[in-house]
Amino acid sequence: MYAGLRDREDTEMQRDLGIALVKRALDIVERQWPDMADTHMRVPLEVYRSEEIAARERLLFESSPLALLAATEIAEPHDYLVRQAVGRSILFTRDAEGVAHAFLNYCRHRGAEAAAGCGNARSFACPYHAWVFDSKGQLVGMPFRDRYEDLDLARLGLVELPSQERHGFIWVLLRSGAEIDVAGHLGELDGELASLGCERMSYFNSLPQEPLATNWKSVTEGVVEALHVPFVHANTFALNPQAADVDLGFFDAIGPHLRWVLPMFAKDDVARIRATPEAEWEPASQIACVWWISPGLLLADEYYGLIYADLTPGKTPSEAFFRYGWMSPTLEPPDGLPAPAEMAARAAKAVLEDKPVWEGCGRGLEDGDHDYALIGRNEKGVQLMHESVARQIGYDGLGHD
Ligand code: FES
Ligand SMILES: [Fe+2]
Repeated sequence: MYAGLRDREDTEMQRDLGIALVKRALDIVERQWPDMADTHMRVPLEVYRSEEIAARERLLFESSPLALLAATEIAEPHDYLVRQAVGRSILFTRDAEGVAHAFLNYCRHRGAEAAAGCGNARSFACPYHAWVFDSKGQLVGMPFRDRYEDLDLARLGLVELPSQERHGFIWVLLRSGAEIDVAGHLGELDGELASLGCERMSYFNSLPQEPLATNWKSVTEGVVEALHVPFVHANTFALNPQAADVDLGFFDAIGPHLRWVLPMFAKDDVARIRATPEAEWEPASQIACVWWISPGLLLADEYYGLIYADLTPGKTPSEAFFRYGWMSPTLEPPDGLPAPAEMAARAAKAVLEDKPVWEGCGRGLEDGDHDYALIGRNEKGVQLMHESVARQIGYDGLGHD
C-alpha cells in the first residue's frame, strides 16, 4: 500500500535484500517468537554517568559523519539554516552553484553567532558589528571597511566543516580539516539508504532541538525497542506500526549500525503471503525497517514516509538533545492517511510522551544505587547498540547474565 508512495528504487540487490527480510519476518511471525540475544545484558551505570566515558563518546560523535540536515531543508541556492549539534552552532548554506556547505557559525571578529534561523540570503551580517559573510562563508565586508584596509579578508572566513551531500542528507564531520567519507561510514547500508529516495522527500520538523535530561544512550535504547509502546503510547498506539506485536522483530548489526525489521502482517497473513509468488511480494509494505546509524542517527519507516531524527549528547552525561522530524515523498495527504504535517505532529506527540519516562530513567541512572541496567534477551536492538558504542569507544565493562 505504501510501496508506490515511498517510491523506492528497487535495484536487484535491494529487491533481494527485501525478499530475504520478508522471509525472516514470516518465520518470526509464524513462530510468534522474537529474535533473541543469547544472554541478558548488564550495562553498568557508569556507562550512563561517567564523565570519562561521556568524553570518549563525544570524540565518537566528533569523528563520525553526522547526517545533520535533510538536503531538501536547504533546497535552493542561498537557502540557509542554523542548527545546534554536539554543543556547536552550525550554519548550513547552499551556495550560488548549488553546493551545500556547513560552517561553524562563529564570527571571525569576536565570535558572535553570525547567522540565525533559516531562510534565503546571499549574505549574513553578524548581529554584533555587522561583518558580512557570503554563502561560501567568505568575509566580504564590514562597516568602516577603510579602517581594515590592510586586512586580508580571505583569511577571516567562517570555519568550514567537511560535509557531503549523500542519499538526501547533508553529512558533516565536526572537525575542520578532516576527510569525510560517508559511503565508508555506512558500509553495507550505503545501498539501502540510497534506495530510500530521501533526496526526493520533504522534511517536516517535529521537534527542532528537544533538550532531554538523561543520557543520550538511554534515549537511544527507547528508539530501538517497542516493548514500551503499549504503556507509554497508549494514545497514539493505534497509529504506530510497531504496535502490532511489540517484540516480534529481528535485528542485524551492520558494521557499527543496526537494522531492526518489524513485520507489518499478522500470523493469519503468513500462509497467504507464502502462497503468493515471491515476484509479487512487496517488501516496502510487508516489513518496516528502523535504522540506527551510529552514533546518533535514526531513520524509521512510518506509513508512507520516514522518521528522520538525530540524538546528540549534551555537555554532561545526563543531558541529550533530540531533533526529530518526518520526511514525506508527497506534500498531499494520501488517501485515508494523515497529511505529512500531521504525521510530524504525531511524531512530536509520541516523543513528548516518551520524554517523562526517559527523564525518569535519567534520574534513576544518575541517582540509583543499583549496579547495572538489565537489558533483556528480547531487547536485542538495545544490546547491539550498547555493544557497538562500547566497541567504538574501547569500553569493555558490559556484562552478561
Ligand atoms: S563579533 Fe561579529 S561582527 Fe563583531
Ligand atoms: Fe516511544
